[in-house]
Amino acid sequence: MEIRNWIFALILCHAALVLTSCAVELARSPPTERISGSAGDVLEDDPVGRLKVFVYELPSKYNKKILQKDQRCLNHMFAAEIYMHRFLLSSPVRTLNPAEADWFYTPVYTTCDLTPNGLPLPFKSPRMMRSAIQLISSNWPYWNRTEGADHFFVVPHDFGACFHYQEEKAIERGILTMLRRATLVQTFGQRNHVCLKEGSITVPPYAPPQKMQSHLIPERTPRAIFVYFRGLFYDVGNDPEGGYYARGARAAVWENFKDNPLFDISTEHPTTYYEDMQRAVFCLCPLGWAPWSPRLVEAVVFGCIPVIIADDIVLPFADAIPWEEIGVFVDEKDVPNLDTILTSIPPEVILRKQRLLANPSMKQAMLFPQPAQPGDAFHQVLNGLARKLPHDKSVYLAPGEKVLNWTAGPLGDLKPW
Ligand SMILES: *[C@@H]1O[C@H](CO)[C@@H](O)[C@H](O)[C@H]1NC(C)=O
Ligand SMILES: *[C@@H]1O[C@H](CO)[C@@H](O)[C@H](O)[C@H]1NC(C)=O
Repeated sequence: MEIRNWIFALILCHAALVLTSCAVELARSPPTERISGSAGDVLEDDPVGRLKVFVYELPSKYNKKILQKDQRCLNHMFAAEIYMHRFLLSSPVRTLNPAEADWFYTPVYTTCDLTPNGLPLPFKSPRMMRSAIQLISSNWPYWNRTEGADHFFVVPHDFGACFHYQEEKAIERGILTMLRRATLVQTFGQRNHVCLKEGSITVPPYAPPQKMQSHLIPERTPRAIFVYFRGLFYDVGNDPEGGYYARGARAAVWENFKDNPLFDISTEHPTTYYEDMQRAVFCLCPLGWAPWSPRLVEAVVFGCIPVIIADDIVLPFADAIPWEEIGVFVDEKDVPNLDTILTSIPPEVILRKQRLLANPSMKQAMLFPQPAQPGDAFHQVLNGLARKLPHDKSVYLAPGEKVLNWTAGPLGDLKPW
């Protein structure tokens, strides 16, 4: 009965925009709330003074020249590899003296190889990465000291350093041998998966910050949409049978709720997309081909409670962002009950999540703005690296000692780049 009343009140006060007490409460941008304890505080940490990063200077064919060939790489969801490089070059944590560095960074743009449709092809990435590592290991003494254990790499591909967009192939390949001791900064995050190494830093996919900012609507606009989603339900081109894409979760959303008035879902991407998210209470974040999505970044930025449907996902900066408290997690098998699950959440719980989402530090941590700003995703990466210091003594190898097998892996990866 309570549930029914709540749905009814919600439809009434939202759809009709009647200023009942409920509408007033849900409509206005709620006062922000901090989470006590480490979570909120960690997000506001200043990494400056806590770590020093040495940026290897590589020939421009590993970075700038690649970007020159295709400027679309700057707006791609994997663009973090480019912006992270630019950020580090002018960051106060950068040191020009490698002898005092805590971390070494190799600027190599391995995702900037796009098809005419803008899809990244990772086929050359392993050779390119291997070539870059060969270069740094022969020109500087630092790689051989640890075989990469004090080095970090940005690998934002679908399945990170497995360098393949098909999951079975990615699993078969595994993480590129040369990167198995390094710290990987990647968007891919799924527990117990060969493409997620322990100690990796999971980052949000890149979503254009200026573009998002330019679509902000007045804070008091009522959230008249209950559940919102725009995106694919079926990937007809790659998965004509329909069972594999998003492990069937997106298809289940569509089949169950396409005619449900509480659900505003469609594959059509309207020009009011960002504005609509600011008018929604819940924004669906179902997995796609890999369990990450810019949908999550957009939901947080627009204060729409993310409904995360991706079993075993490892969310961005999960050691700093209290995802359980700001979002709603729905098991993939429970998608048919999504309506009941969401309408059963008490209004005070919804209001608390909205207040937490209104905290600017959550939004900031999801974005890679230019220029960088305190607390943004760049700073969260640095904070994550700083928290790993000091390196364990065991990572330093004896002179001449080798752990990694340079000739392991598919033969194709061993060809020169
Ligand atoms: C590092 O080790 C590799 C492989 O054994 C070797 O070819 C290279 O010269 C070494 N680098 C330096 C700077 O000594
Ligand atoms: C390195 O890997 C290659 C290819 O799998 C293998 O043939 C070789 O024996 C390995 N070397 C060592 C020292 O394990």
